[in-house]
Amino acid sequence: MGPMQPELHEKLAALLAICQKMNSERDLGALLDLMVREATHLLDCDRASIFLLDREHNQLWSKVALGSDEILRFDARMGIAGKAVQTGEVVNVRDAYSHPEFYNAIDGETGYRTRNVLAVAVRNQRGEVVGAFEALNKHTGAFGARDEAALDALASHAAIAIENAQLIGELRRSQDQLAEHNAHLMREVVGKFSVHGIIGAGVRIQQVVRLIERIRDSLVNVLVTGESGTGKELVAKAIHYSSSRARRPFVALNCAALPETLIESELFGIEKGVATGVESRAGLFQKADSGTLFLDEIGDLSPAAQAKILRVLQERVLERVGGRAPIPVDVRLLAATNKDLETEIARGGFREDLYYRIKVIHIHMPPLREIREEIPLLANRFLEEYCRETNRGAMEFSPGVLRRLLTAPWPGNVRQLRNEVMRLAAITHQNVIPEDDLWEDLPPAALPPQPVSPSAPRKEVSLKNAVADLEKHMIAGALESTRNNQQQAARLLGLSRQGLINKMKRYSIAG
Ligand SMILES: Nc1ncnc2c1ncn2[C@@H]1O[C@H](COP(=O)(O)OP(=O)(O)OP(=O)(O)O)[C@@H](O)[C@H]1O
Ligand SMILES: [Mg+2]
Repeated sequence: MGPMQPELHEKLAALLAICQKMNSERDLGALLDLMVREATHLLDCDRASIFLLDREHNQLWSKVALGSDEILRFDARMGIAGKAVQTGEVVNVRDAYSHPEFYNAIDGETGYRTRNVLAVAVRNQRGEVVGAFEALNKHTGAFGARDEAALDALASHAAIAIENAQLIGELRRSQDQLAEHNAHLMREVVGKFSVHGIIGAGVRIQQVVRLIERIRDSLVNVLVTGESGTGKELVAKAIHYSSSRARRPFVALNCAALPETLIESELFGIEKGVATGVESRAGLFQKADSGTLFLDEIGDLSPAAQAKILRVLQERVLERVGGRAPIPVDVRLLAATNKDLETEIARGGFREDLYYRIKVIHIHMPPLREIREEIPLLANRFLEEYCRETNRGAMEFSPGVLRRLLTAPWPGNVRQLRNEVMRLAAITHQNVIPEDDLWEDLPPAALPPQPVSPSAPRKEVSLKNAVADLEKHMIAGALESTRNNQQQAARLLGLSRQGLINKMKRYSIAG
């Protein structure tokens, strides 16, 4: 499976476009206009409308046209949109006037001639139907399965945006709480693709997120592995804060940071009088009692400390240094390492019995170069975060910067990407981050970039080849997802149409 799946790319591009603009479009009217415009582009059709359900009067309402304030209202049981709302299903009508449920009074009112209609229900996060999203008059032929899927995907984003915009609209009225709630709502929007701060829309990260959700209430020990900066600690915190122990302490220890001699008293505590002047002190196991203990770099533990931890895990009691009576503890252990513990075991550096105790569940975080398709989402989120925290207006990346971010080697993984985005945002005074800032400063390619498609024959690995591969892949994906509509594909890719045509020629991609 190539990392840049066209459907994912398409969804991401549409989602990013909406999310980005949502920063400035907190007003419901503007949001609806925005989504209607996105839909018209994505489905290559004449018009799109969003109907909102007014439950009290059982009516659907919508603005008559883009930018107008005139409101159209009708009985929620009427028409194709009404049918989508009533049944919750996709309704695809190829010939409107011969369809029994078509409500031609609307054409009568608006003076518009409907040929074909596609309507889907819009559901909020609780699964309740809150309206319908409708597309009218496909430019060529009728709406197909792809359009149905696209409109459905858009409708699910629309629901969240609408709900949030409606809520924000209400909040505007209570001025004093605005700032706080607004931030909360934004977090909820962001939350769609970020659970406990773990950002990622693709399968690899979503699998991790789903696993965390599945194990949230079992108290199994989890081992998180992965290179530096891939989010191991983030995952550990997500596990703790989504578990039933969330209100109890999360205690972390970096096993590599303390000398061997101090680790034991740090972990298990020390009894008064072990040495002159020593006061008794609780260890981290005790501090984490009924909570979670996170042992980072567990591969660096001494054999003595490993043996003691194993005993705590087996017997659920601990002994302080110099202590007599064992103390019962109830601790969930999470561990992380960027070492290969199986190699360590083979070398005799790590106990096999402890290994099986701590990795009841194993989560491996992929290096960023294996999940490049997440880079646009991550980079945009970090940029949003910067703007929010520094209270500056929205910023965006120029397409050139985004392309460079996509292909950089990232030996420091997500941490490095985050730092780079924060640095770029801090040194840029415009709203659009220009490529110049990056070419100068992006760390040089310390590692050769991976070939983008693992199945492709390995060519000479150079940055240039990797960029070419990625470009080819993205162009093919964009063309496929827009059914060879060059104008739309160019838009998805952030290129001009001529720029796209030039690249297609260079890579001999047929149009
Ligand atoms: N999927 C992700 N979504 C959002 N932020 C991420 C993600 N992965 C990593 N980060 C961010 O990258 C930075 C590094 O993450 P973290 O400290 O969890 O990495 P680590 O694997 O523990 O690294 P190390 O091995 O160097 O300790 C943090 O700022 C974290 O929030
Ligand atoms: Mg870490």
